[in-house]
Amino acid sequence: MFKPRGHSSKFAPTSGVSPRYVGELPPLSAPNGWFCLGFSHELAPGKVTTRQLVGRDVVLYRTRSGLLRATRPYCPHLGAHLGAGGRVEGEEMVCPFHGFAFGPDGVCTRTGYGTRPPKASLSLLHVREASGMMMVWHQHDGDPPSWEMRTPPSGTFSPVARDTTECAGHPQEVLENIVDFGHLTALHWPRVSNARVVKAFTEDGATAHVTLEMAVRPPGWKKPMLTTYEFTLHGLGGTEVHIRIPGGFVVRIWFLPTPVAPWRVQLRSGIDARVPAPRLLPAPLGRMLSAASSYLVSQFFLWYHNRVFLFSERNGDVPIWNAKEYLSQPRLAEGDGPITRYRRWAGQFYP
Ligand code: FES
Ligand SMILES: [Fe+2]
Repeated sequence: MFKPRGHSSKFAPTSGVSPRYVGELPPLSAPNGWFCLGFSHELAPGKVTTRQLVGRDVVLYRTRSGLLRATRPYCPHLGAHLGAGGRVEGEEMVCPFHGFAFGPDGVCTRTGYGTRPPKASLSLLHVREASGMMMVWHQHDGDPPSWEMRTPPSGTFSPVARDTTECAGHPQEVLENIVDFGHLTALHWPRVSNARVVKAFTEDGATAHVTLEMAVRPPGWKKPMLTTYEFTLHGLGGTEVHIRIPGGFVVRIWFLPTPVAPWRVQLRSGIDARVPAPRLLPAPLGRMLSAASSYLVSQFFLWYHNRVFLFSERNGDVPIWNAKEYLSQPRLAEGDGPITRYRRWAGQFYP
């Protein structure tokens, strides 16, 4: 089975993935846009790693001064794979095969023999780093980015709790979950009830918004909490969720599906939280308590979001995604949410 590198999750279900669309062309091709190939802390200065995007390897490396670069893997000299032994020397990527070096602009600066370098460059990809995410631009014919992701300032939130896993599917299918209002109470019950739309699905170029309110009941909790979920979709590769919980708690989730191979996605989540300091305590003690509880809430939400919403064998989305097929003409009914509208918006990301 295809095994993308860069996977690290304690939440993935152990049972298998359906071979749907293996050996045939999947019904949705790879979308254009920004996709997450890892979290910043996974790549220290001087390190090199290989990730997958749309069925091809991408080599990520960070120069000694901290510049992040993403490149197609093959050295323009004689084709060595830079992820297999390539090393960073200062600001340069050095190929393991003949020692040719490439500067941060990708241009070959020297050979391994002290001779004049050929006119050659690495095939660098557009890369951005914000909110601790390493985002790489994919465009089917190689065009440069036509839009940017607007990420929020980090503010006074806890450190980010992160997870990377994978399943069958496609970014459009995974994010359709947000506008598929019908499944919220049907599949996720009893964890979710009384879901209603607070702000309808609206679109603004590559961005789209929708706000829902639902009563959420984590396992072991008697009383459901009325919680607001504000979704901002940045293309099909990055969705930001702001969750407001009674008591002034805010949880932010970055949910990042990356198409790694035909009908296979890597799912990353980054979760941070802010719990207000209790008013009656002296300020330093309040801050300490707020930081500690923000940390605990972010860890709890990572567990809750992944273990309960995504991977639960009975109530989770992933077992459904692993086995479902994509219907281009679904038989929709009242109560389904703006699936058609969402799909029309998503259409802009395809060739
Ligand atoms: S193949 Fe990279 S230096 Fe020769
Ligand atoms: Fe869901």
